[in-house]
Formats: sequence, C-alpha cells, structure tokens
Amino acid sequence: MSKTTLTTSAGAPVADDNNSISVGARGPLTFDNHYLFEKLAHFNRERIPERVVHARGTAAYGTFTVTKSLSDYTFANFLQTVGSQTEVFLRFSTVGGGQDSNDYARDPRGFAVKFYTNEGNWDMVGNNTPVFFLNDPIKFPDFIHSQKKDARTNLPNSANAFEFWANHPQSLHQMTILMSDRGIPLSYRNVHGFSSHTLSFYNAQGKRSWVKWHFKTNQGIKTLTNEEAAKMPVNGAQKDLVDAIDRGEFPSWTVKVQIMSEADARTYGINPFDLTKVWPHKDYPLIEIGQLELNKNVRNYFAETEQVAFAPSNFVPGINASPDKMLQGRLLAYQDAHRYRIGANVNQIPVNAAKCPVNHYQRDGAFSGMGCPVGHSSDEASYTNAAHTISAANFFPNDRASDGAPVTTPHVAPPLMPVLGDAWIGYHNQDAEDYYTQAGNLFRIMNDNQKAQLFGNIAGGLSTASASIQERMLAQFAKADPAYAEGVKQALAAA
Ligand code: HEM
Repeated sequence: MSKTTLTTSAGAPVADDNNSISVGARGPLTFDNHYLFEKLAHFNRERIPERVVHARGTAAYGTFTVTKSLSDYTFANFLQTVGSQTEVFLRFSTVGGGQDSNDYARDPRGFAVKFYTNEGNWDMVGNNTPVFFLNDPIKFPDFIHSQKKDARTNLPNSANAFEFWANHPQSLHQMTILMSDRGIPLSYRNVHGFSSHTLSFYNAQGKRSWVKWHFKTNQGIKTLTNEEAAKMPVNGAQKDLVDAIDRGEFPSWTVKVQIMSEADARTYGINPFDLTKVWPHKDYPLIEIGQLELNKNVRNYFAETEQVAFAPSNFVPGINASPDKMLQGRLLAYQDAHRYRIGANVNQIPVNAAKCPVNHYQRDGAFSGMGCPVGHSSDEASYTNAAHTISAANFFPNDRASDGAPVTTPHVAPPLMPVLGDAWIGYHNQDAEDYYTQAGNLFRIMNDNQKAQLFGNIAGGLSTASASIQERMLAQFAKADPAYAEGVKQALAAA
C-alpha cells in the first residue's frame, strides 16, 4: 500500500471516509458499516486512566553529558567517562490536578528523567524540591486525598490540606517551600530537579555510598506570585517548553551529586534517610558531574508523554536504593500503577523500551510485541523476549545457553544493605524526629519580601480552616521560629 493511501487499521484501503453506508439517501445505516464501527469503537477507547498524581505534564528528549567521572563510586557504565552521552526523556508535571488542570498551580513540580543507558533504563523520578511532605509511604494516599478536590463537593478545599498538615508536622519543611515565593514556577525551564531521596552508588569493590542528585537549572529560578499566576494562560508552561525547543533554544541543567559514606551515615546528626530533610551543603558539598540538555520535542503527546512510565525501581548496575522508607514504598507503587494504567507490557512501548537488548523469560499479556517493542518492526528490534523467539527456552534455568538463551550476571548485585539503628521489626513511630530546625533555617534565610509572601500565602488557605487547625499550625510555625508564627498570625488577622 502506498504511504498516502488511507487504510483501515488492518491495512485495507478505505473507499469513503465521509459517508456511512446507508439504505438510500434518507434511510438508516446497515450492519456492513464495519469501518464506521472500527472508528467509533477505537474512539471509545482513546483514553487510558490518567496518572492518579502528576496527571498534567510535558516532556521532551535530550542528552546527558558526563563532565566528571564517577568511577570511584560506581561502575554504572554511563557515568564512567568524561564526555560520554546518554539519551534522556524528561517529564515535568504538576502533582494534584487532572490532565487538563492549570499549569500554574501552587504545587510541587515533578521532574522525572529516564536515562536510556546501555545497561538498561535508570529512572530518576524526582521533584523540584529537595524534600517531601512525608517520611512514611503509608501516609501517601491520605496526604494526596487532602490536597485533591473535596470528596463531597469536588471543589478545591484548602481547609482539608491544612487539616492534614496540622496533624503531620513532618510536612512543615516542604509546606514552607510550597507556600514560599518559590511555590509557583514561571516555567518548567526555570525549575531545579532533585532526587529528594537518598539513593546509592556501589563500585566494583563492593563499596557503597549514599547519594542525593541535584539538577540545577541553567535558566535560573523564576517564579510567579499568586496574582501573576492568575493572569497566565492555562497551558502556558507546556507551551513555553515546546516553543523553546522548537525555536532551538534548548534548556539545560547542571547535574550535581552529594555523596555520604556508609560510615558517616551511622553517626551523622541528621537521619540521612528521612525524606523531610536536606543534607546541608556545608557538610556534603555539591559535586558537579554533568550537563543535561533537552533538545527534541515529542512527535505524539499520547504515545510518548502520556504512555511514558517512570519507575523508581528502574535501576542500572552501580545505582541502587537506600533504606529511605518512602523510597522503599515507591519501589512497589509505580510498577503497580503502570500495570493498571498501561498494562503488563508497558516496557515494550518505544518511549519506555530500553535502547539495549532486553532478554527475559516473561511472556504474553496484552499487546505483547512478539520479540520487539510495540511500534517497531521486527527487523529493527533490539528487544528479544526469549520466551517469544521461536527456538528459545521459556523457562530458566535451561540447557540452552550455547543457543543464546539469556543467563544472569551475578557481579551486578548490589552489596549487602546494612541495617541501621533499631533493627527490631514493628511499627516505628518517627514523631521524635526534628521537623522544625530545617524549616526554621529556611525561614531565617528569607528576606522580608519573601517572608511576607510566605505569611500571605499560608494565611490565604489557613484562614478557611477551623480555629483548632489554625492553632496547631501556629504551634508548628513557632517551633520553627517564633517570628514565623507571629507573621502568619498577623496575616491571618488581616485575611
Ligand atoms: C510513597 C510515596 C509515593 C507514592 C506511593 C507515589 C505514587 C505515585 C504514582 C502512583 C504515580 C503515577 C505513576 C504513573 O501512573 O505512571 C506517581 C507519579 C509521580 N511521582 Fe510519586 N509517589 C510517591 C512519592 C513521590 C515522591 C517523594 C516524589 C519525588 C521526590 C514523587 C515524584 C513523582 C513524579 C515526578 C511522578 C510523575 C512521573 C511521570 O512524569 O510520569 N513521588 N507517584
């Protein structure tokens, strides 16, 4: 069939795409309208479930270039050589709103990067903030419910958000960031990215280090006040990124890491695995290791940006998890979300497929690509699902290694994970953590204008909450800094 022939989805030429088959000019339609039925049936299935969080997003392809080798810390292949380049896909997002919500919500921005390395995909699924509201994954659904629309009215409800925060002082640090002048980015080009979590590196000698990743925007941080944000077009941030890349103005980020030794982690005064806390740069300076540039827009938003599936469990040899409880929860949550949202063969979709050969014994399931990623023709496939190749075994172990049946690579196993602190199994309450010092430190480096914005932004939402919630929030602010509480109190009186 020629490339310009309109066809059915099965490839047959279509005679008429404007008129259904009917009984005479004024009569009803007939049952042989199979092409009409195909169109309507496909249309009914155009949507997949949107992400339960981070539904609204924008993404682009780009390149990560190493400027400092990390070979002392990790044998991750893509981090060994200065100048080596890895293709990436970066999706930015807001968190709380649906697919068609406003780009200028006061909300964290997702910053999820897929590194297509030649040893598999590493997904760095972070945010534009170095910390998070929580440090135990069991609280995530409660937290998200409190930020989303009210269950009864389906309307935004700031009082719900503050009711959650009043009961969870672990949120104070991140809430202070969110309510500050940095809470509404001008565009995705103007945000930093953070792993937020502590991850790990391990080298060929089996030595592990704890690592936090930072992506510093080379465009500078730029933000909006509530009043400025209200005047922006709903899709402005999405358009800004697409237009900049189309113009050849490629946004970039300087990539840095903080590294902590296992020995330090045992004695450092701050719990290095508590996602509500940063590692002060004076103790763990930022080490510059690379540049990340976005330089290619997607061709099809649904196929690429909507179907991309980032999983914090997608590690490559030399990079792994840490005991961070939130991260541990996420290792399960994302793959589960992808199986529900996209399906069991999510990693065969081109945007998710590794750029290196993929060989395994998983088989079948909806949209299984028969040995190649969905959308690739078999002659260009790098994907070899052993269970689907005609002569290979579909079980492991087997006697067919000499025929090319895949085998394991024991030396990529991470070193044994140390168990730190109290190792008894049970519910470990983290209420005794210090949730106030770092929030107070952040408050104290703000100038008067930034403090005034913080007070006003908090008072706007908190004024809609009950007196008891207001009291408990003021008590939290006072523990961070008495001037923080006083400022919010005055702003509440004026609200
Ligand atoms: C236990 C805590 C968490 C749970 C259970 C959770 C769960 C989820 C789920 C289910 C999705 C949708 C995934 C999809 O449908 O593809 C998602 C998306 C996302 N989450 Fe989380 N999340 C948690 C914490 C975090 C944290 C701490 C961060 C950042 C540091 C984060 C960053 C993101 C980002 C950036 C996305 C969007 C990824 C994309 O662009 O497709 N999440 N999360």
